[in-house]
Amino acid sequence: MTEIKLNGCRYMFRENCAVIENKRIASGHYVLRLASIRIAKVAKPGQFVQILCSSATSPLLPRPFSFLTSTNRDFSVLFHVIGKGTELLSRAQKGDMFWATGPLGNGFMADRTTSGSRHSVATKSPKTLNNKILSAEGRTRLLYGGRFAQDDVSFLLVGGGVGIPPLYHLARELVKRKIAKDNIHVFLGARDKTLLLCEKDFKMLGVKLHLATNNGSKGKRGFVTELLEEYLYRTSSDSRHSEATLRLRSGQAPSPKNLKNEILRFAQDDANLSDGVRIYTCGPTPMLKTVSTIAKKYKVSCEVSVEEPMACGFGACLGCAIKVRREDASPCKGGSVIDPRLRGDDNYRYAIACTEGPVFQVSQILWE
Ligand SMILES: Cc1cc2nc3c(=O)[nH]c(=O)nc-3n(C[C@H](O)[C@H](O)[C@H](O)COP(=O)(O)OP(=O)(O)OC[C@H]3O[C@@H](n4cnc5c(N)ncnc54)[C@H](O)[C@@H]3O)c2cc1C
Ligand code: FES
Repeated sequence: MTEIKLNGCRYMFRENCAVIENKRIASGHYVLRLASIRIAKVAKPGQFVQILCSSATSPLLPRPFSFLTSTNRDFSVLFHVIGKGTELLSRAQKGDMFWATGPLGNGFMADRTTSGSRHSVATKSPKTLNNKILSAEGRTRLLYGGRFAQDDVSFLLVGGGVGIPPLYHLARELVKRKIAKDNIHVFLGARDKTLLLCEKDFKMLGVKLHLATNNGSKGKRGFVTELLEEYLYRTSSDSRHSEATLRLRSGQAPSPKNLKNEILRFAQDDANLSDGVRIYTCGPTPMLKTVSTIAKKYKVSCEVSVEEPMACGFGACLGCAIKVRREDASPCKGGSVIDPRLRGDDNYRYAIACTEGPVFQVSQILWE
């Protein structure tokens, strides 16, 4: 096992991991559980691991996978067979050994301010970190694992395809951290019911499930993003406003005093919607783009995990650069590489998805 220090504050490990189990869970989809002490212990939801799929030279490069679960002794990934690497992994047997490197990247919510810059929990005291976030936003913001975990925040986890595994990891962590299960809403989308990955596992967690399939074989017929929008519409002040209008139309007009209270309530609801709801999403790019549009429309904070194809996984090859809004002068804030090719112009720059991401604030990403 090798221990490597990243960016002067974070660690990743290289471990030779034994296969504990490799189970087919749907057509072309497998859950691979690997024994690991160092990687598994520190893996956070939204982070990923690079697995070398072959002991020979083809494929030469390891393949990135989000963590599905992690415990003190093992971690698992859920993968879809799409090429040579995943085909080799699908044939893995109990006891086979695979080199894995991780945990890599930045996960959901952890040590982040709204500006998108990151601060290591390891290098800053929680108090300093919390103060920074408070001053950055001017209001309390939920800090992953921190003292601001709130009961009145709704967590909306929106996933499609192999974007679902990191959301399951996140849901487990939220439940572990005693977030009320009624406040954790999971929106899953798939082509048909056989591909609604982890549905049973989410059910067992006891969180609220909202399902959509393209062919209508389970849940709503259509896209998962439609379910998300319906949910936000229902819980937004707009829909409450319509209820009040209906009451007025049906002759239940409030007295002037009640009207004032009603207006105050609407104003509070409006403020609460953006404060009290957070979206976390991972899946196919068209889905991510639609979720981003919905989050902006309803003014809800949203974290997006992008799964750009990656080679090295730790900032060396620049193969995973994505366009982000320029918020500062530095060409690669938070990443380990400063390269003129990342500079962009006054409005945008390139971010290295494997080190600055894969999770980004929705406001950062410039979709192409
Ligand atoms: C941070 C991150 C997390 C990921 N998590 C998961 C996961 O949890 N489960 C999972 O099944 N997959 C996940 N992926 C995608 C996974 O890494 C690829 O499917 C895998 O590398 C394919 O390897 P392969 O050798 O089988 O296919 P290859 O032979 O490398 O590729 C086969 C085809 O798929 C395309 N392709 C490869 N990677 C991607 C990609 N990332 N996006 C779109 N097209 C791609 C190639 O261009 C090629 O056309 C993740 C990717 C990233 C970057
Ligand atoms: S994959 Fe090499 S820099 Fe991101």
